[in-house]
Amino acid sequence: MALREQLLAVAEELRRRKTAGDKTVAVGEDTLVALRAAVAAQNRGAAGEAGAPVPPESPISRPAVAKPDDGASFVRRAPAAAEPEPIREPARKERGAALFGDSASAAKPALKIAPAQEGAAIPPAPVFTLPEGDKATRWAWLKDKVENDPVCRAHVRPGKKVVLGVGTLDAKIFFCGEAPGADEEVQGEPFVGAAGQLLTKMIKAMGVDRGQVYIGNIMNWRPEMPTPPGVEQIGNRPPTAEEMAYCLPYLKAQLEIVQPEVIVALGATASAGLLGAGSFKALGEIRGRWHSFAGRPVMVTYHPSYLLRNNSNRAKRVVWEDLLKVMERAPLPISERQRNFFLER
Ligand code: URA
Repeated sequence: MALREQLLAVAEELRRRKTAGDKTVAVGEDTLVALRAAVAAQNRGAAGEAGAPVPPESPISRPAVAKPDDGASFVRRAPAAAEPEPIREPARKERGAALFGDSASAAKPALKIAPAQEGAAIPPAPVFTLPEGDKATRWAWLKDKVENDPVCRAHVRPGKKVVLGVGTLDAKIFFCGEAPGADEEVQGEPFVGAAGQLLTKMIKAMGVDRGQVYIGNIMNWRPEMPTPPGVEQIGNRPPTAEEMAYCLPYLKAQLEIVQPEVIVALGATASAGLLGAGSFKALGEIRGRWHSFAGRPVMVTYHPSYLLRNNSNRAKRVVWEDLLKVMERAPLPISERQRNFFLER
């Protein structure tokens, strides 16, 4: 994984764990050294110098995902020795840094997550009605509308793209993520980076292709963070409530066009956007259960980036059980083998 992707994956996982209610994450000294080296290298790279390599033994230098291929590598159990080390739950007395900072017994924070930058003033959400016509006509109209939406455009950096969902307009299953990241705003398509590649494998494991479902996001642009002039944004921040409210009509319009049987909310931010931020404290409270949005059933599960950092069979099984419920409801055929994914040791 390239340095930038490593940093993005670490930052995203930390942010997601914070959103999920984790207060602390223990970080070993070697990881802190590697992170500092990576940041220094990134800064030097931005200034035109060669970057320092991340030490090979660093946990962040280990590949988090296998090469994109098919669902098999999502369901295939990696040999124990080859499994990436999951981020450990904080051992209170453990040496290391408390990243989320407010635990009295945790060690002194060495690294803080930057507070989310409030987005620039966001006007009220757009009000529009989809034109009459077939699904393709309505979707093409929507795509043109979002790409020319002045607010969306104003939040996208030069050379980057506003992102609408992709997939078949006859999809039974509508996956809903949070917001475009670095790869998505370049390609103009949701879930094409590391998390997206894992999502594609999860979809394959369900017995369908990425092109047979629909994949969208709560947000149509990548929430921006302050960066020095000429430097690419590193990391992502969760969208503000105002940003999500602004983009929600676009998500609703996609649902109106696709009319899926099931929506899958991936992670805490998507769930907050769909179900209301005040409706839960931690994702664990609501995942694995049916909820409702715009008259359609919503299954809440963890975001694929959670599995990028915690790819134990146990974590995969938790997500897989949620996806089995989705398959039952869609409905999709479920083989005995699929029922048992991640159970065998
Ligand atoms: N994460 C998301 O939630 N959405 C994307 O499109 C990519 C990563």
